[in-house]
Amino acid sequence: MAVAGERNGQEAFGVDVGRLVVVGIGLIGGSLALGLKAASGCREVIGVARRAQTCEQAVALGVVDRAVTDLGEILPELEVGDVIFVAVPTLAVEAVFTQLKDSLPAGVTVTDGASVKGSVVAAAKNVWGQVPDFLVPGHPIAGSEQSGVTAARDDLYIAHRIILTPLENTAAVHVQRIHTMWEAVGAEVLTMPVVEHDDVLAATSHLPHVIAFGLVDTLAHDAENENIFRYAAGGFRDFTRIASSDPVMWRDIMLANRDAILKAIDLYTSNLESLRSAIASGDSEHLMGVFTRAKAARDHFTKMLAKKAYTEIMEAKEVTFVARPGGAVNGDLRVPGDKSMSHRSIMLGSLAEGVTEVEGFLEGEDALATLQAFRDMGVVIEGPVNGRVTIHGVGMHGLQAPPGPLYVGNSGTSMRLLAGLLAGQAFDSVLTGDESLSKRPMNRVANPLREMGAAVETAEDGRPPVKINGGQSLRAIDYTLPMASAQVKSCVLLAGLYAEGDTRTTEPAPTRDHTERMLAGFGYDVNRDGPRASVRGGGKLTACHIDVPADISSATFFMVAASIAPGSDVLLRHVGINPTRDGAINILRAMGADITLENRREVGGEPVADIRVRYAPLKGIQIPEDQVPLAIDEFPAIFVAASCAEGETVLTGAEELRVKESDRIQAMADGLKILGINAEPTPDGIVIQGKGGNGEVAVFGGGEVDSLGDHRIAMSFAVAALRASADIRILHCANVATSFPNFAELAQGAGMDLEVR
Ligand code: S3P
Repeated sequence: MAVAGERNGQEAFGVDVGRLVVVGIGLIGGSLALGLKAASGCREVIGVARRAQTCEQAVALGVVDRAVTDLGEILPELEVGDVIFVAVPTLAVEAVFTQLKDSLPAGVTVTDGASVKGSVVAAAKNVWGQVPDFLVPGHPIAGSEQSGVTAARDDLYIAHRIILTPLENTAAVHVQRIHTMWEAVGAEVLTMPVVEHDDVLAATSHLPHVIAFGLVDTLAHDAENENIFRYAAGGFRDFTRIASSDPVMWRDIMLANRDAILKAIDLYTSNLESLRSAIASGDSEHLMGVFTRAKAARDHFTKMLAKKAYTEIMEAKEVTFVARPGGAVNGDLRVPGDKSMSHRSIMLGSLAEGVTEVEGFLEGEDALATLQAFRDMGVVIEGPVNGRVTIHGVGMHGLQAPPGPLYVGNSGTSMRLLAGLLAGQAFDSVLTGDESLSKRPMNRVANPLREMGAAVETAEDGRPPVKINGGQSLRAIDYTLPMASAQVKSCVLLAGLYAEGDTRTTEPAPTRDHTERMLAGFGYDVNRDGPRASVRGGGKLTACHIDVPADISSATFFMVAASIAPGSDVLLRHVGINPTRDGAINILRAMGADITLENRREVGGEPVADIRVRYAPLKGIQIPEDQVPLAIDEFPAIFVAASCAEGETVLTGAEELRVKESDRIQAMADGLKILGINAEPTPDGIVIQGKGGNGEVAVFGGGEVDSLGDHRIAMSFAVAALRASADIRILHCANVATSFPNFAELAQGAGMDLEVR
């Protein structure tokens, strides 16, 4: 046995594979043999095949070092650390176990590659009376429609998943040895319970095989379709490829995983039956529902496949920006659609009667999470295609229970606004999010919803997931918000649509009013009186056309970029300048920025303008507290402007910044300090000593800063590089895609030197 710790990946376990015995030298067994040999992952590979010819072929092809037709012949040679991989058809596994029963030397690990684990466990119990501790049931999720020793490849398992289903009594050393073996051939090893494995595989692998075999057989036997294969094109070929797989293997799988497969077939049959009825009755809505949902799911899966394996996606998610120093920004730009309005357009469009058309929709991950949530609740949504979305509204009571938890990624707006809407539904629901969202406070919405009679639960400390028991009758409340939050206000108003009576919110300071405006646009009466807004439950929404303007929050990065970089002059087209969102313009102007609003107009109830920004020297200011909620998402960029200003900038009254996608006060202060700026966080703000007065172009040094996965922190530091003396490396930038998926392209086009790694 090789010494533990010799090879990469093996140190962690201190176990190693001595000899590998492959019983069944086909595609699965032969590929492990080849892969392990290529990786020098064992001392010797011995093949066992029923036919002498296969043995000879396997040796001649170099798949195994030697081969025998009788397993019993080599068992006496085996010793501690050797592994037997049983790679025979599922129902033949028991016969192999029987041969092992009385002659297996101690310390040898046995594993298998069968697609059904319940039957392997049952076979082991039949043979040994209980599952022995050296048996590690396993299943490589890899293969092809080809079979036999000639199909074996040494790279078959690279970046593929291997599922191990050890039992409670399986000995750790054996599990670890099998782990080591699969990792040596480049696979990713997961463990799961036997039953879960068999259910998952029934749905994702066994059912597609039943359908493919069945479809091809149907067509092949249909006399009227005699010529079918002559005319069958790509669709048939792609869909039925797996019907070329090994019949014996698949017959065994069907018999071995009977119950789970029957469950999957029944579910599929009932869906196929509904599709049949929809086609028969010309129900185009139903067809569009199934097809758009399926397309969205398949597109997502295609992206995963394109990256080969999930692990690689996780790595690809590790995006680093390298922002090179200097430059200016120039040109005529249109940044993507407003995030807040994009969310609301999907929510209200879904609940409206009729078809809502949306233009300018933000195709960023946050708004797409909302879109997916409504698809999951049965709403037919076409697109987005170039910012156009068509929503087939289902009416106030037309949502259906989602099939599982609604995952909204990084998006606080989705979670909080949806919580309000879901509180009014007849069904139960659960809202979950990513790591950042899972740390954010949800009691701010759960509490008022509970006051309205909703049944809402959160995890510890009011964190997600948020569980909502539907079917409660909601009562209107008069709610005074403890903090200036448009999300909380919107949540309560949206729940109010389902409540008995007038639901009223009173906010401590003006916050974005897109919910109020858009409700009105959908024909719902909203009473507004200064800080108060109210809606009467029980009304209806009527579909409309929505033109989403460019997001002022995204535009701000270019407003700051142009303001700090000498020689800059940009025109930002069609930007929403709603007075509840224009704090960044006001604050930057107060600092001396040269910002003019051109072509002011109103589009679909929202004020819009083209914003021209030219470089101008900035000075530090005390930021007026009444501007804080109006610029709440823009502070990371404003802090960069403040660093380039002459003198001190002081922000107070902004404690809300600490509970955004990250603690934005701390994250910015930490990064700015690394770049040589004196930035002192305070409980509710920050004090920044601007370096703009020192007569030098560079105010930031270079260095590595962490965006903590917060999109706005990442983009702000990219902008800072315009006035840096060396590269700024910004870590964890993947979430820029939540709000501004084409930021890097636009920034490069405007003149910033930004590399995405
Ligand atoms: C938003 C409201 C704000 C803002 C967020 C979007 C909205 O959050 O920060 O990006 O669309 O209602 P708060 O309500 O938590 O301030």
